[in-house]
Amino acid sequence: MDTRVKIDSAFDLGLWSARHLDSIERALERWVNAQTPFDGDHRAPAELVEAMRYAVLDGGKRLRPLLVLATREAVDGNGPDPANPDTQAESAGHEVALRAACAVELIHAYSLVHDDLPCMDNDVLRRGKPTVHVKFGEASALLAGDALQAMAFELLTPDTGMLAEQQAHLCRLLARAAGSAGMAGGQAIDLASVGAVLSESQLREMHRLKTGALLQASVMMGASFGDLTEVALVALECYGAAIGLAFQVVDDVLDVTSDSATLGKTAGKDASHDKPTYVSVLGLERSKEYAKELLKQALAALAQSGLRNTQALAGLANMVVNRVC
Ligand code: IPE
Ligand code: IPE
Ligand code: MG
Ligand code: MG
Ligand code: MG
Repeated sequence: MDTRVKIDSAFDLGLWSARHLDSIERALERWVNAQTPFDGDHRAPAELVEAMRYAVLDGGKRLRPLLVLATREAVDGNGPDPANPDTQAESAGHEVALRAACAVELIHAYSLVHDDLPCMDNDVLRRGKPTVHVKFGEASALLAGDALQAMAFELLTPDTGMLAEQQAHLCRLLARAAGSAGMAGGQAIDLASVGAVLSESQLREMHRLKTGALLQASVMMGASFGDLTEVALVALECYGAAIGLAFQVVDDVLDVTSDSATLGKTAGKDASHDKPTYVSVLGLERSKEYAKELLKQALAALAQSGLRNTQALAGLANMVVNRVC
């Protein structure tokens, strides 16, 4: 098999993303609402919903939902034709894919709200705005995070339009990635590691869990829309693992090299909180090199997948490593 990385110069990631971001934003706006579409008889307390909407809407790169949609495009023969984006809206699976995409973003948004709490990273700036607990108070931030997490799973379990098996599979992937063997577990290690000296493998494990797991799950949730060979599935798992780790390596680098205005969150926090990071363990230059090496691994995995329509996944991998915020 030819495992060289193919670059499709005709592919425009900006254009591709803009189209998908539009539907992601509209779906989040529609679903994170006092009158949820799930049960018209029940309204949520307005203040809680306000905090949830503040956490989710108006900000964020939406990388995880984009990964879900890009992977679906790569695997789903019945999905949208990338050459003819207008067919997307009519595609039967698009609504389900959008549910999966938004569910991951809700888990991510909740993880940020809790990550910023005084008992965790004690951060006051997120997505260019005061953090949720600064704006609404700690108890409301805690509850907004709780409610977003629950809403993610409600989104994946509609009364109609999704097979029970598909619902269960997507819920399982997301729950595993968010839970004690995923993001929450990684966050526990992160908090327990303040002031500690970690080996490179301990650091890799922490980053794999706290950040990589949800990014990899985004890819595997998108992959569930196709009928894939074992080779393709394993290749996508490798792609997800590589970009998942790369994402946090770059996050550690940007914490040192960028500024708060560009990042929309407080720069320089890791050193001031004595957190072990790739920069503290490998140094700045080796961390940047490692991120580039992970990008190569991700692109090689795509080439090995045997899938043809992987331009968006390749573009997103590039974006993960070369981003400025
Ligand atoms: C920040 O994630 C938290 C980490 C996992 C490092 P993002 O950089 O994806 O945050 P948003 O969604 O764009 O704000
Ligand atoms: C957080 O890692 C990862 C999460 C699970 C939210 P960081 O603590 O480094 O993320 P930032 O830098 O605050 O976004
Ligand atoms: Mg943190
Ligand atoms: Mg943090
Ligand atoms: Mg960080």
